[in-house]
Amino acid sequence: MKLFGKKVKPSQKAFAVVTGAGSGIGRSFALELAKRGGTIVCSDINLDAAKETVALVEALGAKAFAVQCDVAKEEQVNQLAEQAEQLMQSAVTLVINNAGIGLGGKFDEMSSEDWKWCMDINLWGVIYGCRAFVPKFKQLGHGAIINVASAASFTAAPEMTVYNVSKAGVRALSETLSAELRKSNIKVNVLCPTLVPTNIIKNGKVPHKGLLDYALTNLAFTTSDKVAKLTLDRLDKGELYTIPQIDAKLFWLMKRTAPNLYAKFLGTSYRLMK
Ligand SMILES: NC(=O)c1ccc[n+]([C@@H]2O[C@H](COP(=O)([O-])OP(=O)(O)OC[C@H]3O[C@@H](n4cnc5c(N)ncnc54)[C@H](O)[C@@H]3O)[C@@H](O)[C@H]2O)c1
Repeated sequence: MKLFGKKVKPSQKAFAVVTGAGSGIGRSFALELAKRGGTIVCSDINLDAAKETVALVEALGAKAFAVQCDVAKEEQVNQLAEQAEQLMQSAVTLVINNAGIGLGGKFDEMSSEDWKWCMDINLWGVIYGCRAFVPKFKQLGHGAIINVASAASFTAAPEMTVYNVSKAGVRALSETLSAELRKSNIKVNVLCPTLVPTNIIKNGKVPHKGLLDYALTNLAFTTSDKVAKLTLDRLDKGELYTIPQIDAKLFWLMKRTAPNLYAKFLGTSYRLMK
């Protein structure tokens, strides 16, 4: 991005808002932004968790503020955008729409409430974040958006329908905004990881919790800190996608180069596993 003829990296000295900053990937984003000289509004539905992140950011010598916000409520996200400017005494230059929950289970076992809960947080939360900040970035003349989707947005793994649909929406939203906002000097990156060790299983509504949490803790190819660092680096390079792990990259390649074969592979592996 060029600002007054000078190349500016959006992750450097950012005035950033991170949703779901009280844990996992959101907390790692806040800490990495602090290391890059940023000022961060750490928002979360859990204010105590957001405050813990603020303390960690401050320990790194950076400025941060904790704000409670439920991303499923549009008025709260709009309020967060206003409050962030007042707290940081600056325009926001980067928003990271990260807050999300995990939901798993067979398609026919999912209730309408399950669908609504997941879509309200995982998809609408990101839409509200983009709606609140895009007009502000346009007015400012630049800005950056990181939307946290998931490899689930393209892997289509069985027994994860609702989560998969919510994340596919986040990816489609991000892909569209990336093209539409380019001329407005607004950069977009969408993060699509597979397993990252965080509290997502503990906090979510998923079957086989113990097993999945074991997999998350022991079989992940990365950490939330590495994922946050890589995503910010890719945003700075103007890349749209961050697909951090080797398994995520492999699924991405298979899905795009041989989509029908991939669907058969998925169905067969699921049948054999069962
Ligand atoms: N951990 C993984 O394996 C993984 C993989 C792919 C994508 N993701 C995505 O990464 C994002 C971050 O998740 P995480 O893994 O760090 O999980 P996490 O549970 O450790 O952190 C999520 C944070 O979001 C907050 N939150 C939940 N609902 C909220 C709401 N309505 N409003 C505001 N905040 C809310 C929680 O309080 C928590 O602090 C999510 O969007 C998730 O879907 C995670």
